[in-house]
Amino acid sequence: MGNDPNPMKKRTHMCGELRDTDAGSQVTVSGWIATYRDQGKGLIFLDLRDRTGITQVVFDLEDVAEDLVTQAKSLRREFVVSITGMVREREGKANHKLATGAIEVRADELEVLSRSDNPPILPDEHEAEKISEDIRLKYRYIDLRRKRMQDILTTRHRITQLTRSFFGENGFIEVETPLLIKPTPEGARDFIVPSRVKPGSWYVLPQSPQIFKQILMIGGLDRYMQICKCLRDEDPRADRQAEFTQIDLEMSFVDRDDVMNMTSSFVRLLFKELRGIEVGLIPTMSYADAMSRFGSDRPDLRFDLELHDATNLASKTEFRVFTEAIGLTDGVVKALVVPNGVDKLTRKNLDGYGEIAKTYGAGGLPTSKYTGQGEHGGFETGIAKFLAPIAGELSKELSLNEGDIVIFTADRSNIANTALGQVRLQIGRDLDLIDESQFKLLWVVDFPMFERDEETGHWTSLHHPFTAPMPDQVGVLDSDPGACISAGYDLVINGSEAAGGSIRIHDQDIQTKVFSLLGLTPEDASTKFGFLLEALKYGAPPHGGIAFGLDRLTMLFCDTDNIRDVIAFPKTGSGLDLMSDAPGPVDHDQLEELQIALLEPEANSANC
Ligand code: AMO
Repeated sequence: MGNDPNPMKKRTHMCGELRDTDAGSQVTVSGWIATYRDQGKGLIFLDLRDRTGITQVVFDLEDVAEDLVTQAKSLRREFVVSITGMVREREGKANHKLATGAIEVRADELEVLSRSDNPPILPDEHEAEKISEDIRLKYRYIDLRRKRMQDILTTRHRITQLTRSFFGENGFIEVETPLLIKPTPEGARDFIVPSRVKPGSWYVLPQSPQIFKQILMIGGLDRYMQICKCLRDEDPRADRQAEFTQIDLEMSFVDRDDVMNMTSSFVRLLFKELRGIEVGLIPTMSYADAMSRFGSDRPDLRFDLELHDATNLASKTEFRVFTEAIGLTDGVVKALVVPNGVDKLTRKNLDGYGEIAKTYGAGGLPTSKYTGQGEHGGFETGIAKFLAPIAGELSKELSLNEGDIVIFTADRSNIANTALGQVRLQIGRDLDLIDESQFKLLWVVDFPMFERDEETGHWTSLHHPFTAPMPDQVGVLDSDPGACISAGYDLVINGSEAAGGSIRIHDQDIQTKVFSLLGLTPEDASTKFGFLLEALKYGAPPHGGIAFGLDRLTMLFCDTDNIRDVIAFPKTGSGLDLMSDAPGPVDHDQLEELQIALLEPEANSANC
């Protein structure tokens, strides 16, 4: 083999490789039959497809052996064949849409490597648009033959290659962490795995390698990187899967800026290599600003439309919705101006925004048009009469022009901001304000350490319980936990959280305090995270890290907003793998061995 100049017997060239300069060469190409055309004039044309592209193959039936004619006539779409023949310039016009469009291969030999039943779907871009995603997922192996799918998986591969080379060059070591573990605290539901050797005990699958990467720092590994699967039993969404992949990082002896700088350099490399874009300095915005101006901790900066604080002016009105909201702890009135909204937004749009606001907890969405005329100081319709006393000041403060629509939310700031922020996004989509060709990157920092759980009234972590307070905020943990600012950071790209991380607590006392603020008794903390608390006793370096969603990064570079497009074998919106039909029943014996009994008798007989 070693001396064989042509070890690949089944092909000499890939289907996308041949050019007019190859004319006259004898080649072998292998792949799937993308199209089959019997011209009826003694010519059969095939488009032969592999991952690199398409080559046109022609059988000149009058010029080849009888058995080749018979074989050629038996071919169908998606058969896998190997064809040997001479490359020649196309007799007709060159096809400029194809890289190989100047040539064709005149077949002398044909080997059918595998036949195909009539395919239920075709790996064709136009067809794919018409076929339901469920069918494509069921026949994923055919759908994966599509150029778009192969391009996406190639881009994903390039991202992982760049990741490994960048972090390798920067002193990061790739370390694998276990899949069968104790729960990690990322806040989602766990997937649990029964232990056979210790019946009644359970592993969980990692929501992230968070604790292990911290322990690697305590173990002196200094810089860690891993491209790892994370598993969270939450409902899938357009940008969320229960099983997804992170680029997971941790560094020792660093502060917030060190991690953000390293991460920014990596992101700059990705944009340069994958898009030829120079990203430059990535701006930073505080959580408070992001919430107040955009109603989101991951603002989409590809369009303007900022939220305004109208609390002061609103307090001068007699509109009860405003005054009651202002009376609440942290109550605000926020306003959003839609320039020329009178012409652009329909009643249906506005009703839709009201529904969105309600989903995010706002009671309603008071609205008015600004016409600059009339009895209510220039406002008409909606809550115009309530705005009349502040019309002059409000129109000045919001720089209103004739034809603008002003939309308000009035509630506790979290709700008022978030609800109006979501309305802002929908307006951006409805009015086509989002420039899809742009990439807007942003670091969001200065998150609060905690937020109140509305139902229980308990503090919960905004990032996770191992996130440190900023160095100057340690005292605030005691005096006013709600005001304590954390050393967490999120990288937001085009309104999506591409990565999130923090500097960690490396002091056992602070960690214990945070657990107690989160309502964990020392016993709870010890049962759940005792091994981390124990490790913190034996010399923990200051450390911090971050994790990217690899799937989300790939979505960004492949211009898709469907996470299933960037995963070879994704789950559907209801968590099913339609190809392998998972999840499915397991044998009764397996359950018995694990000492597991199903609760419902029906389920028992149906499943076993
Ligand atoms: P976090 O939970 O923010 O942080 O996750 C990091 C990044 O992972 C991506 N991501 C997801 N992608 C697809 N589907 C999901 N269900 C999903 N959940 C998260 C997002 C997110 O920014 N251990 C910490 C990181 C750290 O502190 O270092 C963590 O997992 O892009």
